[in-house]
Amino acid sequence: MRSEHLQTFLDAARAAFTAHVRDPRASDSIARIFDALSKPGEPSTQPGTRLPVCDHLQQATSDAHFTDPSLKALSSAFMTLEPSLTWYRRGGDNTNASPEFAENHANAMIVGPGGAERRTDVWIGVSLVAPHIRYPDHDHPPEETYLVLSEGDFMQGRDNWVTPGIGGTLYNPPGILHAMRSGAAPLFAFWALWAAPHGA
Ligand SMILES: [Fe+2]
Repeated sequence: MRSEHLQTFLDAARAAFTAHVRDPRASDSIARIFDALSKPGEPSTQPGTRLPVCDHLQQATSDAHFTDPSLKALSSAFMTLEPSLTWYRRGGDNTNASPEFAENHANAMIVGPGGAERRTDVWIGVSLVAPHIRYPDHDHPPEETYLVLSEGDFMQGRDNWVTPGIGGTLYNPPGILHAMRSGAAPLFAFWALWAAPHGA
């Protein structure tokens, strides 16, 4: 069974991602992801935990940033769900990251491995990065679509930086090198990954 808070969040995420994706590969991926989510996974029994950097959440999710109703709804459904999430620091190598990266970012898996709903086929989560911090370069096999809810820059491929802006989206094909960096404001973005084989 799925909690009402999680279902409300997933409905809001589906609406917001669907309204904002531009790349046809991202549209396909998002449709596939939310179709798979019609079947609930296993709920986590782990209590939610925050990290100190989560003090930036209030600013990052302020209604004042959003004119689009689907982004407002997503941000508010997320904050209702947030107390049940386990925020964590990224492991692995920190290539090109700011020296203060570790204590100045946090991720939370909403559905996916270690998430509030445990499953392996689909991962949806969120990243929060304090101002003036660069995230490490990284890559992963699943394709990934970002929905960005703040200012901030995103790298797709080595040294190719773009600024999607609030409501902007990015599609990362499988294995592409990518990163992100915040400016004066905290960076806040959702990601949705298709981790099951295509055609499965
Ligand atoms: Fe990624």
